[in-house]
Amino acid sequence: MKRLITSPIYYVNDIPHIGHAYTTIICDTLARFYRLKGDDVFFITGTDEHGQKIEGAAAKNNLKPKQMSDKISAEFRALWDSFDISYDHFVRTTDESHERTVKAVFARMYESGDIYKGEYEGNYCVSCESYFPANQLIDGEFCPDCGKKTSIIKEESYFFALSKYEKKLLEWYESDKCILPRGKKNEVINFVKSGLKDLSITRTSFSWGISLPGILNEPKHVVYVWLDALFAYLSPLGLEQNGTLNLAGQGNMAHFNECGVHIIGKDILRFHAVFWPAFLLSLGLPLPKMVAAHGWWTRDGQKMSKSKGNIVNPKEVAAAYGIEQFRYFLLREVPFGQDGDFSQRALIDRINSELCNDLGNLLSRIVGMSSKYSEYKIDASKLEAKHKEELDAASEHINTALKEIDEANMSRYLEEIWRVLNIANAAVAKYEPWTLVKNGDIDGANAVVALCANLLAKAAILLSPALPKTAAKIADTMGFEINTENFTHFITQNSTKDFTTKACDALFNKVESELMMPPVPQNEPQSEQIKIDDFAKCEIKVGTVLECENVEGSSKLLKFKVDLGESAPRQILSGIAKFYNASELVGKQVCVLANLKPAKIMGLESQGMILSAESEDGGRKLVLLGTHSPVKNGAIVG
Ligand code: MSP
Repeated sequence: MKRLITSPIYYVNDIPHIGHAYTTIICDTLARFYRLKGDDVFFITGTDEHGQKIEGAAAKNNLKPKQMSDKISAEFRALWDSFDISYDHFVRTTDESHERTVKAVFARMYESGDIYKGEYEGNYCVSCESYFPANQLIDGEFCPDCGKKTSIIKEESYFFALSKYEKKLLEWYESDKCILPRGKKNEVINFVKSGLKDLSITRTSFSWGISLPGILNEPKHVVYVWLDALFAYLSPLGLEQNGTLNLAGQGNMAHFNECGVHIIGKDILRFHAVFWPAFLLSLGLPLPKMVAAHGWWTRDGQKMSKSKGNIVNPKEVAAAYGIEQFRYFLLREVPFGQDGDFSQRALIDRINSELCNDLGNLLSRIVGMSSKYSEYKIDASKLEAKHKEELDAASEHINTALKEIDEANMSRYLEEIWRVLNIANAAVAKYEPWTLVKNGDIDGANAVVALCANLLAKAAILLSPALPKTAAKIADTMGFEINTENFTHFITQNSTKDFTTKACDALFNKVESELMMPPVPQNEPQSEQIKIDDFAKCEIKVGTVLECENVEGSSKLLKFKVDLGESAPRQILSGIAKFYNASELVGKQVCVLANLKPAKIMGLESQGMILSAESEDGGRKLVLLGTHSPVKNGAIVG
């Protein structure tokens, strides 16, 4: 079977972090697993290099966008090479063949009537490279995905007729594994059912992007980064050939057509589960078999950020603890789709208990026992007769593991492999082969060793996609090969074998204490300093909330009546409905920026701004500012 496996292609605005390593390692494990099974796999990773975000990051670093892209793209590639990531193609959206593909796609969609010209005005988040409708913004201006301030952009734009594909998308969502985890699928379905707007797919406000195909003669426009980036999944497969599109699935396109699998983070699901299939439908191409979205990583329970200096650098972790140890931790720590936390303590615990004890010690014991009892030879002839129960139990876990990996659930996959190891470890404790030998039951002792060796061999074969070097060491010590033939023998056919072992070093070493320095907060960026006269321009007053209610049609806004000691109370709107119940605020004193020019929000006038502080309790949260003890309404804050 042919398969395509893709990681997201990563933005080149900054160096790789744990989130990038996580997705790439999941993809690498899947690619290695299916190759081992005998499939013809094509694995793509790469970098996403166009757009305003990259243009801005380059300017900050005094570089041209292409120089910045070259530098960071090379860092991603070098990292994956040092991690021995088995990608077949590293795509860059600045590759000439990719740019040609995007132009050909654009021209095709335009000719078929799915692209038309119009005008767009909306709130744009540069960080997410995405527009958001006003009613989704936090406080009327902040991005609902990343919390950063959006800017209003008005530009002439070409649109893609996304709305046309609503019905077909809903039909696609009916296929079982198209979106994983399944819970996420409902979010997507609800989003599509709430009505799709056509998508603005060109920009005129900056120039760092792919220009439109010549037939349109539109030098001002560049292609929207997401339309550009998503086709990086197909440009390396030869979607475009000599200026025309290969829609018949010839050559490497067959990998996508037979089984396209995209592994992504949850934040970019909408682009992959709505826009991407709609683009494919427009071209008449098949849809992916699976779009699987994983959760996000925090560090020591905190969101990672540059200012906290706590962004987990994969290179640093691998240098301190080892690549395979890091791979194991990432794949094992969280069930697919859930958020995870990185801490050195948790990593060390997994290394010591699971890799050293459960896995490493089992190999040492097998080598030790086989050397003592049978000159390194392990005879499996009595195994089936004596240990059918254990073999059957292991085979059930193996079958479950195979189902789990088919849904990208690496953590459950590894858990099942560990259950197989535990059957072997428990058998040593239960039968005590050394006691059997003492009592003259040599056959019995050999059968236990054969059980352990066969279970470890099965586990090592299944483990090899996740921990290739470790599995190769186990196989070398036990004298077998990790290849498709042995996958069929040990896993598909559930058979056993004799082995000849040899002496070996410990697979893993215990870690006594943390090996990386704790994060150091970076200098806060210097904000512009102001004079006291500037502050004096702000009239901040204390007032009492007389009334407070939710605004109909908004999940974020509360409408207040606040007594500021004036002749009439003020009506003020505030986007804090997510953090407070309206009723709990009545009677409370709040601080209000009183001389703010009135503004209309959702058709209602807001006469001031209620002040709040940002907190980050696992997400963006707002806490209202008040006074320590009651004061007169209208009291000046300053
Ligand atoms: N360039 C787009 C993807 C285009 S694919 C056609 C992009 N790039 S990214 O570099 O910002 O992010 C790549 C991936 O990293 C996303 O899947 C995102 O979910 C993931 N992560 C970013 N931060 C993360 C964590 N803290 N934890 C886990 N993954 C996170 O989006």
